[in-house]
Amino acid sequence: MGGEHAGRFEGRVALVTGAGSGIGAAVARRLAAQGAEVFAADIDGLAAEAVTKELPRARPLTVDVAEPADVDRAFDEVVRRHGRLDALVHAAGVDDPTAKEWIAEALVGNRPPEVTGRLGGDAWRRVMRVNLDGTFHVLRAALRVMAPRRAGAVVTVGSSSAFDTQPGYPHYAASKAGAHALSQSVAKEAIAFGVRVNTVAPGPTETGMAERTPAALRQGFADPRVRPYATPEEIADIALFLASDEAANLVGAVLLANGGRFTV
Ligand SMILES: NC(=O)c1ccc[n+]([C@@H]2O[C@H](COP(=O)([O-])OP(=O)(O)OC[C@H]3O[C@@H](n4cnc5c(N)ncnc54)[C@H](O)[C@@H]3O)[C@@H](O)[C@H]2O)c1
Repeated sequence: MGGEHAGRFEGRVALVTGAGSGIGAAVARRLAAQGAEVFAADIDGLAAEAVTKELPRARPLTVDVAEPADVDRAFDEVVRRHGRLDALVHAAGVDDPTAKEWIAEALVGNRPPEVTGRLGGDAWRRVMRVNLDGTFHVLRAALRVMAPRRAGAVVTVGSSSAFDTQPGYPHYAASKAGAHALSQSVAKEAIAFGVRVNTVAPGPTETGMAERTPAALRQGFADPRVRPYATPEEIADIALFLASDEAANLVGAVLLANGGRFTV
């Protein structure tokens, strides 16, 4: 199962957020297959547990990344058990199915989407709290654990939609652009302490999030000139590369992984 990379994370302690589904679940599976002790964190603790049940050396944690105390507790638990954390992949994130529905309705009706004027403060804050505040909470906790040991690798999951911003999806785009800039600033600070931080920015990927995308919108992403929706495993492989020693000289990178849809 580990393939040519079997043993790449042997003896490493890894924490994955959003590990109950999609990209995070694929990362947890890949890390375990490559030898890591995996802590699989998700706000949906049952989903995290279902993923860890299939894996060797894996433990579920129930964590809401928007809650700093939750995040700190999870890192404390890792340190209590192993005394350190070697790799962190932060894949927890949310979409906004209501905004997607409005965009799809406009597409079907051949009208331009009108979302921003209708977007409630709660919808704005939910996306920012999880995607941006959550990334801050997780990066902060990771640095507190990793910097004193002068070692560690962090991978955050951004999005191609921070670059090719979709009309009608401003909160998601802003949250991911913020997560990219946050990761890059922290990367430049952290490397002085031997900790590498990088980001993978996926394009459309076949996950629970994609299942919540209305068919009309999905068709817009189906373009025979580019690769189809990525599999979660394809994105996980990139995250694992960034977390591995093979990426020793990558610091503050935002790797766009969108199958050729556009370049930056
Ligand atoms: N699927 C795509 O097309 C796509 C494209 C670009 C970026 N992304 C990003 O990839 C990451 C993973 O998403 P996915 O596509 O695998 O979606 P997903 O919905 O399949 O998985 C996301 C996981 O995060 C968890 N989660 C949500 N809020 C949380 C919180 N507050 N605290 C802890 N866990 C929480 C969910 O329970 C879920 O298990 C997200 O950051 C997403 O924005 C996805």
